[in-house]
Amino acid sequence: MEQLVFATNNPHKVDEVRNKLSGLFEIRTLSEIGCVEDIPETSDTLQGNAAQKSHYLHDRFHCDCFADDTGLEVEALNGAPGVYSARYAGPGKDSEANIDKLLSELEGKENRRARFRTVISLILNGQEHFFEGIVSGTILTERHGSNGFGYDPVFQPDGYDCSFAELSMDEKNKISHRGRATEKLIQFLSGTK
Ligand code: IMP
Repeated sequence: MEQLVFATNNPHKVDEVRNKLSGLFEIRTLSEIGCVEDIPETSDTLQGNAAQKSHYLHDRFHCDCFADDTGLEVEALNGAPGVYSARYAGPGKDSEANIDKLLSELEGKENRRARFRTVISLILNGQEHFFEGIVSGTILTERHGSNGFGYDPVFQPDGYDCSFAELSMDEKNKISHRGRATEKLIQFLSGTK
């Protein structure tokens, strides 16, 4: 079976894609191909970072591969934290500190509209393809729920009366930015068979 490397070691991300592509592609992770170094992500756009990661793998490991990058884009903050979402409150990638900073930046602001956006860069047979997934919603004034990760406790998706952190992983995956981008990737890959 054709192999496709996913530029991650996150087991949740891998499981989702692996299940949906079983029988079509064998999905391999970074550790499975022996890539132990930190892949640089120095672009100031999501698309740039996703492409940087997929090209890094393609150049060094000569494999078909894909990489994703995600950011939370808040209207009243001109799209911040965006590509810097993981390190919003500092290099420690501390989710609690990131949420605290977000809530304090939005204090007193009426517009709490925000969206998560994921961009995937796929390199297949030497050609690059991009896929994007977006979920829009609002930033709550306090944390709700304990599922998920990152900004989930303060993000309420449109059409729901609860935060991402109050949804099950399956419910969230159906409507999430990453779920939607991944679905487009899977549709594309299925169409190549
Ligand atoms: P990554 O590109 O998937 O590593 O995401 C970058 C950062 O965006 C993460 O460290 C989180 O802070 C945030 N993030 C990404 N996806 C989600 C999500 O589904 N829920 C909450 N926060 C997320």
